[in-house]
Amino acid sequence: MDTAYKLIGPFTQLITLAGLPLKGAIADEQISPLAQAGILLKGNKIFKTGNYESLEKEAALLGAITVTLEGEYVCIPAFTDAHTHICFAGSRAQDYAMRNSGKTYLEISEAGGGIWDTVQHTRKASLEELTTSTIHRANRHLSEGVTTIEVKSGYGLSVKDELKMLRAIKAANQETPAELISTCLAAHTLPRDFEGSHSEYLEKISQELFPILLEENLCSRMDAFVEKGAFSPENILPYFKKAIEKGFQITVHADQFSTGGSTVAVQLNALSADHLEASTDKEVQLLAQSDTIAMALPGATIGLGCAFTPARKLLNAGACLAIASDWNPGSAPMGDLLTQASILGTFEKLSNAEILAGITYRAARALNLTDRGRIEQDMLADFLLFQTNDYREILYQQGKLKPAQVWKNGECVFTSNFD
Ligand code: NIG
Ligand code: FE
Repeated sequence: MDTAYKLIGPFTQLITLAGLPLKGAIADEQISPLAQAGILLKGNKIFKTGNYESLEKEAALLGAITVTLEGEYVCIPAFTDAHTHICFAGSRAQDYAMRNSGKTYLEISEAGGGIWDTVQHTRKASLEELTTSTIHRANRHLSEGVTTIEVKSGYGLSVKDELKMLRAIKAANQETPAELISTCLAAHTLPRDFEGSHSEYLEKISQELFPILLEENLCSRMDAFVEKGAFSPENILPYFKKAIEKGFQITVHADQFSTGGSTVAVQLNALSADHLEASTDKEVQLLAQSDTIAMALPGATIGLGCAFTPARKLLNAGACLAIASDWNPGSAPMGDLLTQASILGTFEKLSNAEILAGITYRAARALNLTDRGRIEQDMLADFLLFQTNDYREILYQQGKLKPAQVWKNGECVFTSNFD
């Protein structure tokens, strides 16, 4: 194990996010940037933060390697994207064009579009092809500051093809500096070629797929799309209960077009309920009073041209709000988390602190990870450097200011060549 000390700095501002709450609204005044600061690492973890000059003295005594920065930099925790579908094949550019020229969901689906189109392309792709494209997207995300990425299956929709996707995600995780956390979304939609009911399909998945997932250590998280036309609360409850019995953690595609999913999520104490564009005040209260994290997916709002998740209401009610990209070929093809989070902020009137919390420690919590998302002692040394002197520039530039450096596990894994 690497236990070498390393000092990085000085930063014009260091934003640690230490001490900010897990739930509810946060004001920017609670952020308290540290000026002329540094970070002392021990191996892959944060050892100390503080005034750069004092840390320099300590670093010398410890024989630390020093990484001295020239110019103005703001350092913030690296991002976690807790909801993506970046393992897929094919493109849905035609769906997008048809949707924007006023075609209905049914017309798009009849023209061969929708989730089923991606399923067919993904089924045809080899394990190697899926692995390579997942690595490529993960590395793009990494260069934009996302060091932890949740990746769902859900475009296989058969035991064999869901396994192929999850094996590809596992293989991709070995080949990118980003950390990929996989989730099984076999309950994305009823595959068109399945001869049987929704319950029969779910029964088959739980009987045949769950044991292999556990045996091969392919994932520890289970997701489902609870929606009209996908799976009803009645279908999904017994499926999720079986998953919980087997030790899987639960997350739900909830309240995207109609309500129902978030109630299931809260009832099962799911880690997160994601989407929530259709949530009413009732669901907002329900989520706020629970430990289930409310996950806004502005990329799907921007991709589909529909409502934003009621993020302001959720925070005011006391919920834990995380923000994820939902990067997928259908509803959210852009996949730029920072841009999407800033845009959500302008529409929902979120503070810088609330947005940053939503893509760092609050997002990590949605993956049950408590070791990242803040820059404080014993946390993983996952952080970003932006070439600016004011942290507010990051969201002000709405994603156009990209990180100059990305650090993961105490190593610089990406340096921008753009000044
Ligand atoms: O999160 N809502 C369901 N699933 C995805 C969309 C998947 C697709 O259209 O390919 C989502 O938006
Ligand atoms: Fe999704």
